[in-house]
Amino acid sequence: MARPRQVHRCTACGGVSPRWAGRCPTCGEWNSLVEEEVEVPTGAGPPPGWGGGVPVPLGQVDLAGAAPRPTGLDEFDRVLGGGLVAGSVTLLGGEPGVGKSTLLLQVLRTMADSGARVLLVSAEESAQQVRLRAERLGPVPPLLLLLAGTDLGSVLRAVEGAGFDLVVVDSVQTVADPQTGGIPGSLSQVRACADALVRLAKDGQVPMVLVSHVTKEGTLAGPRVLEHLVDTVLTVEGDRHHALRLLRAVKHRFGATGEIGLFEMGEVGLTAVADPYRFLLGDRRPGVPGSAVFPTVEGQRALLVELQALVTPMAPSGAPRRSAQGLDPGRLAMVLAVLDRRAGLPSGPTDVFASVVGGIRVQEPAADLALAMALASACRDVPVPADLAVFGEVGLGGELRQVPHAPQRLQELARVGIRRVLVPAATPEGPAGIELVRVHSLAQAVELAVPARTRVA
Ligand code: TYD
Ligand code: MG
Repeated sequence: MARPRQVHRCTACGGVSPRWAGRCPTCGEWNSLVEEEVEVPTGAGPPPGWGGGVPVPLGQVDLAGAAPRPTGLDEFDRVLGGGLVAGSVTLLGGEPGVGKSTLLLQVLRTMADSGARVLLVSAEESAQQVRLRAERLGPVPPLLLLLAGTDLGSVLRAVEGAGFDLVVVDSVQTVADPQTGGIPGSLSQVRACADALVRLAKDGQVPMVLVSHVTKEGTLAGPRVLEHLVDTVLTVEGDRHHALRLLRAVKHRFGATGEIGLFEMGEVGLTAVADPYRFLLGDRRPGVPGSAVFPTVEGQRALLVELQALVTPMAPSGAPRRSAQGLDPGRLAMVLAVLDRRAGLPSGPTDVFASVVGGIRVQEPAADLALAMALASACRDVPVPADLAVFGEVGLGGELRQVPHAPQRLQELARVGIRRVLVPAATPEGPAGIELVRVHSLAQAVELAVPARTRVA
């Protein structure tokens, strides 16, 4: 039995409040609560798919079925820690056009090719569009089934009891439940559809992948609430104007997060990239001011990226611009402030642009020193030496701190032949053949890497 009840749900965080308020009591967002009717179960039983509601000794919980099953698309499986778990629900987010549909079509094809029964629910593209895309990727396997349409009921009927090995719903924002109010894509619709699909996956022990579009700001469109409902959240990142795509696990109930998969978008879909070096540093022009090479670590992988900075006099009217692409704007502001106060390099009334080349996002504090060198190099119009890479964290006092994964970073630099690295003084020795240029302060790093040009009178 269930009875309906009115609640107010936050469109930003998904938090629930019994009565309306101007500000969400959970996340503090203003004007984000909307009215919603929920079914409150009156019986005290467990949710469906969770067993009989009887406590069992933890050590006797059946682990069969909890093992991931490989899809056969290696980079995808790697990010998932082996593959998809039966009954698990994965949300795949990314900006429109980044390659979500292409990636999942490849996963479905690979599974179908090895004899699995798989279903693609296309609520966004017509059956003809999907077939054309699929044929672009190669002969279409007979075990790949398609359901084109947006009606939730049809999806539930097609999947229930059909014993699929994988169901992909593309996208969860375009499936609609006629029983629920609101237009497709609205919070109440997306929630109702996701709820029903999650229950379907758990009850039938079918792994399911739901596609979700992400807005420019990087949040899963509107309903952050979906993140709580699913077991795994994957994102596809990349710049549409570059070929490199990054698949990342940001939440994973069955394994580690942070692991990344690297793909190249080409004429026949996405192919795994074994050596991202040529993408990330291939177009680099050594000797140009405002550039520094930084070895970032993502999951088990070290990647060399180029950080770029440009400092220009600001327009006479207006406020100074600070643009950070692929970098945390707060980190950029902090590094600029420390350069000003601790290294005597004021950015003053200028516009500052900083970016990571290749559409990669770098969030780790280990990038501070490299960012600072790119900025100092741009300010002074002096290039960082072409054979010098940089990593380290910068403190507010201008001190430099060692960072995790130093051996991995140094190994990757050695592999591609970069022989000198500017690092915080306490960094442990790396592989033979790599020279560590140890520095104690940001001011010292600036003087070593980008010494001011001596002016000729
Ligand atoms: P798509 O998978 O439709 O993106 P999403 O589902 O995230 O919106 O990818 C669309 C882009 O990928 C589009 O610009 C065309 C390009 N593309 C290729 O470059 N090669 C290919 O083989 C395919 C299928 C798409
Ligand atoms: Mg798509």
